[in-house]
Amino acid sequence: MINPVKGTHDIIGSDAALYNFIEAYFRTYVGLCGFEDIKTPIIEHTPLFIRSVGESSDIVNKEMYTFLDKGGRSITLRPELTAGVMRSIVSNKLFATNDLPMKFCYFGPCFRYERPQTGRFRQFHQLGIEIVGAKSYLDDVEAISTGYYSLVPLGIEDIKVKINSLGDEESRQAYKKALKEYFQDKIENMCEDCKRRFEVNPLRILDCKVPSDIEIVKNAPKMSDYLTDEAKHHLELVLNQLDNIGIPYEIDENLVRGLDYYTGIVFEFHYDGLSEIGAIGGGGHYKNLLKEVGGPDLEGVGFSCGVERIEAVLKSHPDFTPPYRSLDFYVMAIGDNGVNIAYKSMMELRLNGYSCEMNTENKSFKALFKIALRKNAKFAIIIGDDEIQSGEITIKNLKTQTQTLAKIDSLVDVAKSLHFDYLQDEKNGGSSENE
Ligand code: HAM
Repeated sequence: MINPVKGTHDIIGSDAALYNFIEAYFRTYVGLCGFEDIKTPIIEHTPLFIRSVGESSDIVNKEMYTFLDKGGRSITLRPELTAGVMRSIVSNKLFATNDLPMKFCYFGPCFRYERPQTGRFRQFHQLGIEIVGAKSYLDDVEAISTGYYSLVPLGIEDIKVKINSLGDEESRQAYKKALKEYFQDKIENMCEDCKRRFEVNPLRILDCKVPSDIEIVKNAPKMSDYLTDEAKHHLELVLNQLDNIGIPYEIDENLVRGLDYYTGIVFEFHYDGLSEIGAIGGGGHYKNLLKEVGGPDLEGVGFSCGVERIEAVLKSHPDFTPPYRSLDFYVMAIGDNGVNIAYKSMMELRLNGYSCEMNTENKSFKALFKIALRKNAKFAIIIGDDEIQSGEITIKNLKTQTQTLAKIDSLVDVAKSLHFDYLQDEKNGGSSENE
């Protein structure tokens, strides 16, 4: 037997339905906000991620799936989608043909060589957005609110938005200097990752999860003391707008995010009910990313959420019911004579926009009913020898058990009208025929 690769998983049945539901909801919402879909390749040249996600990140240091292709080029399976979107904007000169800011959304697989655990996989999926050519604080608000409203209406109401400002260049330089001074005589006793971060990007030390390091980090200088007036004002504008649109947030001065490209506002979405999975999503502003991958000097902001983590949170709700597959009609051809009428009716119903399946194997009436129920069919259409003889087909409402006879010629019309009544009945509380 060949097992799935460690850290990967098959998405089947109700899990697949849940994925599709999350994706469909996300696409509907971001469509309302004017985001356009962008699909970039899963493989990119390795230097793209080194230049963007950055050398001080765990992703570039230890988690990338990198290999030489047959032409000897270093290729990496994308660990995230932001870098690919930037590369695509440059490759296709999208900045020359699109109104600014450009607004893109995406949904797709990512790969990180991490230790698999709850909510952490080696192949996982991200949904997210990027706003490029962002000039206003409102673009930061748009990224936060789009992330928030991609989650809350799914049923994840207690989302905690954590937010911080990494300030402008001047603020960050001053802060990094203060951090270096603070950690100078402590770094020797900290973890190997922090020693590397101390050299490459001391801000990232604040993100360390090693308990003894967390204690040391607690007393480190705070970013807010180093923000320039301009950076403070920007943060205030963002927070005021979040207040205005009713998005609750909490300021987390240790929030620095795990990727090197952030400048300015950074944020994460958390769910306390399942804190062991880490953040459901995160993002932030990036001033120099597009320029660093060879594009013009345009700022951007975006977020991504892990679809597996959204799924885990939804499933952890006690009243969660998975979106189930349902079928409008299940056609039962009993005996060989009904097959032609059954197949033709099924095709006609499908082409009229109804979901419809039929049995392709001869089975007993009882067995076919069981299948129809398992498929959550609204109606069974029964086409047996008796029906062919009498010229009248039985359509059975599987919720109310009511049977209706339809002439073969008008079968599809009657089925459509019964389906309409079924939906009306559901809208009105769904029990009129049972009473
Ligand atoms: P990130 O924080 O690295 O940001 O990842 C975003 C989300 O992807 C995480 O919050 C988490 O839900 C999910 N995720 C990450 N790694 C895994 C994993 N191994 N297994 C399951 N889920 C995972 C980014 O990727 C940035 N590109 C976000 C962004 C967009 N910033 C600006 N624009």
